[in-house]
Amino acid sequence: MRLILAPMEGVMDHTMRDLLTRVGGYERCVTEFVRVVDRQLPSRVFYRACPELRNGGTTPAGTPVYVQLLGGDPESMALNAQVLERLGAPGIDINFGCPSKTVNKSDGGSVLLREPDRVHGIIRAVREVVSPHIPVTAKIRLGFKDSSLFEDIALGVEAAGATELCIHARTKQHGYLPPAYWAEIGKVKPKLSIPVIANGEIWSGANARQAQADSGCTDLMLGRGALSFPDLARVIHAQQAGEAYTPLPWAEVLPLVVQYAGELEQRAPKYAASFIKQWFTYLRRQYPEAESLFQHIKRMKLPCEIKAAIISPFHQGNDYD
Ligand SMILES: Cc1cc2nc3c(=O)[nH]c(=O)nc-3n(C[C@H](O)[C@H](O)[C@H](O)COP(=O)(O)O)c2cc1C
Repeated sequence: MRLILAPMEGVMDHTMRDLLTRVGGYERCVTEFVRVVDRQLPSRVFYRACPELRNGGTTPAGTPVYVQLLGGDPESMALNAQVLERLGAPGIDINFGCPSKTVNKSDGGSVLLREPDRVHGIIRAVREVVSPHIPVTAKIRLGFKDSSLFEDIALGVEAAGATELCIHARTKQHGYLPPAYWAEIGKVKPKLSIPVIANGEIWSGANARQAQADSGCTDLMLGRGALSFPDLARVIHAQQAGEAYTPLPWAEVLPLVVQYAGELEQRAPKYAASFIKQWFTYLRRQYPEAESLFQHIKRMKLPCEIKAAIISPFHQGNDYD
């Protein structure tokens, strides 16, 4: 079984990838999407999305990071994929799942799922220019409005030469509303020979088992669950290996949050406060202590103020509110 850390724009940046891959259990990561419109992007755009390119394309813990491209023009996508190969990306992922209106208006993301031929054409154009040893993967949803084209899309992805296919088990129309329709993946997976990765609504070891059973996939991608539960990947691996594992208690998660806050304060002081609060919105789903701490910091604007509140011994208990 392989567990992959999902791309998440505005949350799963290299600081978070570093932190979560240090906690462990992930086979690889995928960057937030880089939007390609009609030209070759300067290298600095890729270094910004994937600073790991300066480290051989892996996080400090050694986990490979594929770079995700999003766009509707095959030629420009191919041009940028070539740049990525030159910069040393260990893999290139193509986004056909983004539901954002802005992105869809500019002809990228899930809107392309309405045209399976275009999905195929984009992947083929990228595959043809990138050396065979570099994986080219695709991330799709079940469809745009409904899943009527799902099988065509998936077969087209494989025929275009994609190395692997990750499927977020919802349509664009479903957005992020539960449930995820893992069994829909299971209907098409037997017709594919490339590895298929199931994604969507995996928050626990039990969800992981159910997603595997319904989709027929061994490999899974974890997004919001990984942010809520920093050692979710280790929990899933241990459960599946039949090994005993005690999940990290809040007291061991808190230092990770402090580390994250410290790194963001240095790297992106302007955005640090909102990034930290955003992580809390996920953590409070799993840890009641995070909920009370979130209530305490939610109006704070300065990262140093938030960091001080988090590390204050007074706030390390869970009975202060
Ligand atoms: C805030 C946010 C940002 C996301 N950004 C991306 C992205 O840049 N590229 C992508 O392919 N998917 C993106 N996704 C979708 C996730 O990768 C994933 O498919 C989705 O969240 C379902 O998985 P989950 O239920 O495990 O979170 C994003 C999702 C969220 C919630």
